Amino acid sequence: MKGIVLAGGKGTRLRPLTYTGAKQLVPVANKPVLFYALEDLVEAGVRDIAIVVPGDFQMGREQIIAAVGDGHRFGARVTYIEQDAPRGLAHGVSICRDFVGDEKFVVFLGDNFIREGIAGQVQAFRDGAMNAVLLLYRVPQPQGLGIAVVQDGRVVELQEKPAVPKSDLAIVGIYLLDRHFFQAAAGLQPSARGELEMTDALSRLLELGYDLRPHIVQGYWIDTGKHIDMLDANRLILDTIETRIEGDVDEQSKVYGRVALEPGARLVCSVVRGPAIIGRDAVIMDTFIGPFTSIGDRCRISGSELEHSIVLEDSVVADIGTRIEDSLIGRNVQLRRSEAKPRGHKLLLGDNSEVGLA
Ligand code: G1P
Repeated sequence: MKGIVLAGGKGTRLRPLTYTGAKQLVPVANKPVLFYALEDLVEAGVRDIAIVVPGDFQMGREQIIAAVGDGHRFGARVTYIEQDAPRGLAHGVSICRDFVGDEKFVVFLGDNFIREGIAGQVQAFRDGAMNAVLLLYRVPQPQGLGIAVVQDGRVVELQEKPAVPKSDLAIVGIYLLDRHFFQAAAGLQPSARGELEMTDALSRLLELGYDLRPHIVQGYWIDTGKHIDMLDANRLILDTIETRIEGDVDEQSKVYGRVALEPGARLVCSVVRGPAIIGRDAVIMDTFIGPFTSIGDRCRISGSELEHSIVLEDSVVADIGTRIEDSLIGRNVQLRRSEAKPRGHKLLLGDNSEVGLA
């Protein structure tokens, strides 16, 4: 079986981070969310993978290629296929027709994250006679997602972001498909948002009489498109880390619970209460790092308290009087207490930034 990872998209809900980088490279527990998708595919025995990257309409193509390379470090063979414009998920899959050939294949949206992996489902699909398996997840508010209606063990109807959903089963961005998908996608018209929708292609498969089976995901599924979802995914992964102290902890510092301190990282007069991860060569001084926090490589954190937050590489947080929580801080950010008069908040924030001052 082959794999297609869709890594296009504009990432509008994760702005401003996505002005300078691909949303699939925003890290969860210090590892890009895209890497978890690649690992899930390889674990399921899917090693031939095409990553669909955005053309010039969006940042990120070069960064994705630089981060993943030829895929050998994941145990995969990765090919890149460029999408010329944001024409939708079904379009992204359709341009992989030659790559897939007549094999069955898995489509994985590069910002989707599931805890249970896909090995069992891939095995069942490989051996089964059905034409597609849709991973579904029960959600309280399905309006913003694709929805599936299931009857007698089959998918019988699909809706994309309906105002009045016919079920509470959301379509997870992981699809197991066979070559008939391309036939179904061929005659699609763009939706109201101007895209060829995956859900429309799947509805067409149903109309053509093909057999779509559901699999309801029991563990966690997170579509990491929004900042709060990134924090959720971060919490889930940190919940599974083991203690690994490869950096330096001075005598005045204390580490409680499960904490990964990467090589070159230093704790000076600080307390870290896990689960937490501190990246390579980061320096944490006179600081409290609370549970579910990921600090990126080379960050400098001093005189501050952080909890349930993600700080990306090379950022500085210094002498902040109130605790920082539920926060997602980008790369190279400088967040410091200023003593300059007149006193007040001095902000330089990118477009679409969000700040909640205490
Ligand atoms: C897309 C699909 C939707 C699916 C979701 C999963 O939505 O159109 O059916 O439920 O991915 O992440 P989008 O993220 O493009 O709005």
